[in-house]
Amino acid sequence: MVETRIIDGKGFAEKLRARLAGEVAAFHQETGVTPGLAVVLVGEDPASAVYVRNKGKQTVEAGMASIEHKLPATTAQAELLALIASLNADPGVHGILVQLPLPGHLDAQDVLAAIDPAKDVDGFHVVNAGRLAVGLDALVPCTPLGCVMLLKDQLGSLAGLRAVVVGRSNIVGKPLAQLLLREDCTVTIAHSRTKDLAEECRRADILIGAVGRPEMIRGDWIKPGATVIDVGINRVEKAGGGTKLVGDVAFDEAQGIAGAITPVPGGVGPMTIACLLANTLTAARRQVGV
Ligand code: GUN
Repeated sequence: MVETRIIDGKGFAEKLRARLAGEVAAFHQETGVTPGLAVVLVGEDPASAVYVRNKGKQTVEAGMASIEHKLPATTAQAELLALIASLNADPGVHGILVQLPLPGHLDAQDVLAAIDPAKDVDGFHVVNAGRLAVGLDALVPCTPLGCVMLLKDQLGSLAGLRAVVVGRSNIVGKPLAQLLLREDCTVTIAHSRTKDLAEECRRADILIGAVGRPEMIRGDWIKPGATVIDVGINRVEKAGGGTKLVGDVAFDEAQGIAGAITPVPGGVGPMTIACLLANTLTAARRQVGV
């Protein structure tokens, strides 16, 4: 029975944001430029509204400008594309993020394709996804970037380790697999149709839950001593009434088996916004040319 370390993503993200605030101040001193992040929210999804509020607050705390565009759920594709064109052309905007999911009548791929890749701080544009895949400098999706930072902080070099990513989304699973490959891991992408998923997971030195299914990954799927990163944020009913957040991994069952694990909440979640701020500063530096 091992003592399972709880990975403090919240604390790591706070330190990263403090460091970024210092770098933003130095960048401003050197160039006179304040990095600007534009966030576009279409519709009234309550979870998205919370994320957007937190993003705005933390952007300003880091010394950057936050530009928010809240559009009604009935916004037409052409209107949204026109807004993106104006943000692409605005020299005060260095990063553009369109909050997903979009209302059903809008084509998310078309919208993401309209963002200038140099301002694509989510790293969702096909140019950035392609650059990541072939090993060129790219703006990299924020949640996968946060996962790899936590892993390197825990493990040092990841070279040669067997990583299993459960989930194949464009936002997390696929880009995370690319990043782990770049760290010289041996990478498997598993998903809901994988045969004998439990057995695949048991081979992992690094196990990532990114499927969005509450507590699907059980304690006996974890190799003793493995490092477990839980990207899931699932709201479920509590036994005594009300709701709570749980991850994709059965956290209590992992105790005494995993070497280390991220909690939900307080693990990967806070890293996403911190990495968004890091990407915004990177984008601003490249646009200004320093
Ligand atoms: N919705 C859920 N996660 C994300 C994210 O990382 N970026 C954007 N734009 N929307 C999201």
